[in-house]
Amino acid sequence: MSFARALNVFDLERMARRRLPAGVFGFIAGGAQDDRTRDNNRAALERVRFKPRGLVDIAERGQEVTLFGHRFASPFGIAPMGIAGIARFEADIAMARAAARMNVPFTLSNMSTVPMEAVARSCDSVKWLQVYMPADRERASRFVARAAAAGYQALLVTIDVPVGANRENNLRSGFTLPLHLSPRVIADGLLHPRWLAGVLARTLAATGVPRLENSAVADRPSILAARNAELRARGATIDWAFMRWLRDQWPRALLIKGVLHEDDARAAVACGLDGVVVSNHGGRQLDGAASPIEVLPAIAAAAGGRLTVLADSGFRRGGDILKAVALGARGVLCGRPFLYGAALGGEAGVTHALTLLRAEVDRDLAMLGATSIAAVAAGDFVIR
Ligand SMILES: Cc1cc2nc3c(=O)[nH]c(=O)nc-3n(C[C@H](O)[C@H](O)[C@H](O)COP(=O)(O)O)c2cc1C
Repeated sequence: MSFARALNVFDLERMARRRLPAGVFGFIAGGAQDDRTRDNNRAALERVRFKPRGLVDIAERGQEVTLFGHRFASPFGIAPMGIAGIARFEADIAMARAAARMNVPFTLSNMSTVPMEAVARSCDSVKWLQVYMPADRERASRFVARAAAAGYQALLVTIDVPVGANRENNLRSGFTLPLHLSPRVIADGLLHPRWLAGVLARTLAATGVPRLENSAVADRPSILAARNAELRARGATIDWAFMRWLRDQWPRALLIKGVLHEDDARAAVACGLDGVVVSNHGGRQLDGAASPIEVLPAIAAAAGGRLTVLADSGFRRGGDILKAVALGARGVLCGRPFLYGAALGGEAGVTHALTLLRAEVDRDLAMLGATSIAAVAAGDFVIR
């Protein structure tokens, strides 16, 4: 079935499950350990209820937001996802182009397999870059200089991967880094010929074995050799002093991603950062961690208007996005739905996912009796 028939992003997930090898789908969809936090991301959003207002003239309404000086057309964007190229040939470029077309932010992961310069060149739009920072300041400086030269407008330093997560579903399916081509992984691929030809064979033909082209801790490590935990876990040795140093190196928007504690928001203010992404990494890191919607009010209060507060993890409906806005977020990032869109239809598939969410935001704005995102933020529209 074509992605164009998906009525919502849950449909895209169901279609992607059929299209992708089980190990690849599990890598994207899965969370850590017992998936408690991943599942609570949905449950917590569902517990929040709206208190709509009536008799409001909503004929003229808009969902634009300004983030770091740029006026975006919707209050949501694309979260960074590493190794997105396993779902679609050059998925990063498909997502960047769709985001550019729809004027929403795209965040490139530094665990991606497409060089950041190629993504930057692929479309003319504002782009953000996520990074697992090495403590080694020389390497960090080189990364920052490269990101600035490539034109990225915001840097998101991920802080919730001090060590690699315990993702048992990946261990069971054999989908781990470095990738071992076990009989099970090979059989999984052979059962999905469209993926085998369209993604694996095409990638190998175009670039050979994919490399983490934007790693900040090693020089273009191959995904066959790259040790996941080793490559990302260097965050364990960065601290607030490092962030203060980084603040001086990067004059554009600087955020930390993976904040769940209000004291970390206060520390971010003290460091002079521009924003935080309230996130539990889509439930992929600490199983048992709170969901963003549960801690947003406290974090927004701690930020006190001195930080741009964004949220991600589990947002699947326009109404979910408006709930986050009502509870203190300026905008929301979504991850998996866009990668499913990319897997199914490349740039057009991602555009479809963005279009669905945009229509839902618009409809729910009207139903709430709000004519703008600012009105949702200022109003008293939810009970918890
Ligand atoms: C396949 C995949 C890869 C990811 N890779 C990264 C990454 O490299 N860096 C990062 O900060 N977050 C990464 N994340 C987390 C996302 O940025 C985001 O926090 C999460 O996906 C949001 O939740 P959602 O997928 O439920 O919308 C990844 C998520 C997925 C699904």
